[in-house]
This record gives sequence, structure tokens and C-alpha cells, in this order.
Amino acid sequence: MTDNRNLEAAWAYHDATKHSYTSIRTNPHFLDWRNQPLPFKIYPTLDALPLPREVRPTGVAALSAIAESVPAESNASPDLEAVAQLLYLSAGITRKRKYPGGEFYFRAAACTGALYEVELYLVCGGLANLDAGVYHFAPAEFGLRRLRAGDHRGALLEATGGEPAVAHAPLTIVCTCTYWRNAWKYQARTYRHFGWDNGTLLANLLAVATALGLPARVVCGFVDASVNRLLDVDPSREVAFSIVTLGHVAALPPPSPAEISPLRLETVPLSEREVDYPLMREMHAATSLDSAEEVEAWRSHTPKTGIPPPAGSIVQLQPLSDAKMPRDPIEQVIQRRGSTRKFARSPITLAQLSTMLDRATRGVPADFLDPPGTQLNDLYLIVHSVEGLPPGAYVFHHNRGELECLKHGNFRADAGYLGLEQELPADAAVAIFFLADLRPILQRFGNRGYRAVQLEAGILGGKLYLAAYAQRLGASGLTFFDDDVTRFFSLHAQGKSAIFLVALGHSAKHKPG
Ligand SMILES: Cc1cc2nc3c(=O)[nH]c(=O)nc-3n(C[C@H](O)[C@H](O)[C@H](O)COP(=O)(O)O)c2cc1C
Repeated sequence: MTDNRNLEAAWAYHDATKHSYTSIRTNPHFLDWRNQPLPFKIYPTLDALPLPREVRPTGVAALSAIAESVPAESNASPDLEAVAQLLYLSAGITRKRKYPGGEFYFRAAACTGALYEVELYLVCGGLANLDAGVYHFAPAEFGLRRLRAGDHRGALLEATGGEPAVAHAPLTIVCTCTYWRNAWKYQARTYRHFGWDNGTLLANLLAVATALGLPARVVCGFVDASVNRLLDVDPSREVAFSIVTLGHVAALPPPSPAEISPLRLETVPLSEREVDYPLMREMHAATSLDSAEEVEAWRSHTPKTGIPPPAGSIVQLQPLSDAKMPRDPIEQVIQRRGSTRKFARSPITLAQLSTMLDRATRGVPADFLDPPGTQLNDLYLIVHSVEGLPPGAYVFHHNRGELECLKHGNFRADAGYLGLEQELPADAAVAIFFLADLRPILQRFGNRGYRAVQLEAGILGGKLYLAAYAQRLGASGLTFFDDDVTRFFSLHAQGKSAIFLVALGHSAKHKPG
């Protein structure tokens, strides 16, 4: 039995990293500001190739870009400007804030603690104005550092067990996650954050790819050691977490060299000292795939999870018509996105909520979601203030476009408590909790299914952020008391695990009207 099939590992990690009322109060952890990790990975010996800074307008409405994808076999290849656009709008620095000790950089996608543990690497054949190579994206300089020259896409093709999207992609972006950068604050729970923070970034990346006419596909199945070796990352610190293919060309990449040589490139230490959380490394090992054959067997055939047909009262979604849909382009919406720091207790409309739910859940092109449109996470809502929808707890039937009422009532206090006793989910118009039945998911995908379910939640959460900002509403991701969330939505949610939380509503800064 491979580690991936030993399902006790995922359950042990999940249970050990749950938040509860008691765990929060008994955890002696504090933020050691003197040992705060650097927000960027720096290769001091390599020069950065500058990327074009101008954001080329796509004109594609954000609400379309998040909901649609370009058919997989449409021939398209990004040029250097498109590469710059993809990187800037998914992981670039979009806002700077001065504080007495210096300047703080906010990035295009929401990220827990603004710690930005996700790094991006490009593996490409020759593109217009960009030579074939393996590159690291440096957001601070907005440039690329070339780690390897030449076409190494064949190595990714092998590592993904011949994934067709990788075979035909002129460009593939590998997302890695760095343990210490996030664990400095969140300790061992960081492994969940990898999926969340990688996911919000991918929501942006997928939407921009669509706006640029590029087919894109998220690939979660790959031989971990091979991909880490290609990027030359130290897997005790930084690990490949997801892969995204961009574009489609008919020609296959050349075969990869038999040996991928180590680069031994110097990088600047993130902190004076790093604290190791072995639980995360153990979880990573237990979710790793070891051979191309294992990857091939892993891919697709998503298990049936889903929710039973509605038994309670139903409200049909009423999304805005195309004529009334805000048409702000994706690049504008991403650049104005932020996390709402305080919500106004003012209502949103059922049309606004419906539009967010509908547009965010039209499907993610991913190797673990087959057939397309399948979803691992179920969305449960606490509605506080939505015109046309009585306050209460609901479950969303995404295949039917319906909200089923589980219980009526004013649950602002409950939502605030469940969201780790914060005001945001109590003040918002609606708090959306993602729950998943991990049992069939782990049964089918092994422990790797845990990565997939967290990643999917981050992608859907990121799309909800964009759908909110496209309508000039606010959003914030949140963390939560795991078992209390399940309890709140039970009986319906019995046996499921809490995965993600996002609050949506009007920001107190920008009152409607
Ligand atoms: C998954 C997730 C969970 C988050 N949890 C919280 C939270 O519990 N409390 C909070 O105030 N902000 C939370 N945030 C918001 C982040 O702090 C915010 O994204 C980060 O500071 C970057 O700022 P920006 O989103 O405005 O760009 C969360 C964000 C994400 C993506």
C-alpha cells in the first residue's frame, strides 16, 4: 500500500488541525515579529528579466471570465505580454501600504495573513518574446528569473502520467507552497492554507486565461518528486502543490532529458530560524504520488458526493439577466479587489447573491473533476440580510440552481461565533460555509483527495470574491471552528467536514446608494 492509500494520515492531519473554542484558548503560539519570514523568494545570483508592465485591457466582463472556460483544444499560445498579464493579475503586487517600519505589499489574490506562501514557476516551450525555459516569477521586481534554459515540458508530461493538457500546453505554471512563510503564523494548519491560498490565486489565473482566449486546466495529479526536482526546490521547505496548463498547440514537447541535474542555486533565508511542523511534512508525504502509473490511475472519475434532493422549502436562484449584469472587465475587478475589513449590516438582493453563486459554481477545469461541472465541496449558507430571502440556514443545490432552507431564524451571533468569533461573518449579508464529505473523496483519491478538496474550495472562494467585487460588493475569506460548523448545519451536514468560509455583503466603507 502506498502512503497515498493509507487514509488514516489525512484523517489524523485533519483532526489534529481543527480549531475549537478550547484549542484557540489553549494554544500558547504568538507572532515572533523579529523572526517574521520574508514575503518573497529571492535568488541573489540571478538577474531578473523584466516583464512588460502595461496591463493590456481584455474588455471581458469579470462575471463572464469567472464562469466560462475556453474549449480545451482551441489553438492558442500566450506571448510575453499575455504571460505578464497572467502573472500580474494572479500573483502580482496590486497595492502598497506604508507603515512606520516600511512598506507592505498586497497581491492580486486574497491570502491568509497576507503571507503569500505561493510561488509561481513557468515551464514553457519557445513563446513570442520568451525563450523556452524554466523560470521563477519574482513579484517584487515584476520579472522572471531563468532557472533552466531549454524546453523541459517533457519532464512535466512524464510527471503527470501523460496528461493530455500538459502534452499540448505551450506554457505550464507550477504553483509551489512554502511551509514556513505561512506556518510562522498558522502553524500546522498551514497545509490547509496551501489549498485555500493556491486556490484563490488560481481563480484569478483561470479567469484571466479565459479573458485572454487561452484554454486552461488545473492538474493536481503528478509525481511530486519529479516536479520538485525540475524546479530545484528544497522539498523540506517548499513543495509543488498544483499545476495549470495554459494554451494549446498541436505539437508535442521534445522528450525530457534522462537526468534533471540539481542547480544548487542560492536563495536568501526567509528568517533567522525556521520552526518545523513535522505534521505538515508527514501530510505532504502521505498525499504524494510516486510514479506515472500511480498518477494515471489517480486521475479523473470523481466520486459521487452531492446532496440528497431537497426535502425542505426551496428558493430558486434569480441571477441578474445578461442585460443587467455589471460588465466591469476582469482586470479592473482584480485590481480593485481586497478583503472587506468591516461589513455594513445592509441587505444585498437575491439577484446579487444568485449571480455570485451561479457564476462561481459553473465548473472548474481540473483533472480531479470529471465529468466537468462536478464539485467536491457543498455550499451551506447563513443568510442574514438578503432581500427576497428570509434569514436562516440554507444548503445550495448547485446542479438545480436552488437554495433549500434548513432552518429559519436570525443567526448573526452563530455566524460570528463559527467564524472564529470575528465580526465579519456576523455583519456580512451572508456567510457561505464549504463542507465536504471527505469519506468518498479520500476513498477514491487517497490522501491526495485532501489537497484537491482544499484547492477546489480556494478556487470557488476566489471566484466568489471576484463575483462580489464585480458587483461592487465586498468579500472576505475566514477561518472557523470546524466541528461547530458541522454541528450547526446538521442533521443535513452530518458526517461532513468544514473546509472553507467566505463572507459576502456591502463593505461599511462603500455604503450602497
Ligand atoms: C482563506 C482565507 C481565509 C482568511 N481568513 C481571514 C480571517 O479569519 N480573518 C480576517 O480578518 N481575514 C481573513 N482573510 C483575509 C486576508 O487577511 C487577506 O486576504 C489578506 O490580508 C490580503 O489582503 P487582501 O485580500 O485585501 O488583498 C482570509 C483570506 C483567505 C483567502
